[in-house]
Amino acid sequence: MATTKTAANTAAKKTATKAAPSKTTKAATTKAESTPEESEFQEFFVDELKDIYWAEKHLVKALPKMKKAATSPELAAAFEKHTQETQTHIEVLEQVFELLEEKAAAKKCDAMAGLLEEANGIIEDTDAGTMIRDAGLILAAQKVEHYEIATYGTLAVFARTMGRDDVADLLTQTLENEKATDVALTTVAEGFINEQAVAE
Ligand SMILES: [Fe+2]
Ligand SMILES: [Fe+2]
Repeated sequence: MATTKTAANTAAKKTATKAAPSKTTKAATTKAESTPEESEFQEFFVDELKDIYWAEKHLVKALPKMKKAATSPELAAAFEKHTQETQTHIEVLEQVFELLEEKAAAKKCDAMAGLLEEANGIIEDTDAGTMIRDAGLILAAQKVEHYEIATYGTLAVFARTMGRDDVADLLTQTLENEKATDVALTTVAEGFINEQAVAE
């Protein structure tokens, strides 16, 4: 019985393997310019754009709350600056959707939702007017920036691979700003916040 089953499975596998190339050939002849693989990838790519679009739209609402919660004027200013930059990131994504002739739509980004929840938790767990609060806010913000850096870095590479240098250039522009924000936050933290937080 077991032997028969194995033989049947092997036969089925062989049929599947044989069927695959002929299917591809048929599809390739009917769709010469855009292969099914390409359009499926573009669909996946657009889906990921919708994810980061949701993330940016929620971040732009969370940053003013983080600014309000900050103790030092330096950190408040950094959050203020990045709120404006995040608004630009949203507009750049809208430009990307337009270039791809896709409707700009947001799709819930679980990662950003979690990161922003964590930022709220840090605000709840630390006292207002302390440097521990600021050190914690920087930690939360840098996690967000690193998430954005990973996303834009990969999406820019995807766009370039798809032959969409126009889209890749726009995504790289945002990527560079996220990187600069991360560096700016490190500078604020290492300037005086971390040291004072440890001494509190
Ligand atoms: Fe951003
Ligand atoms: Fe950012």
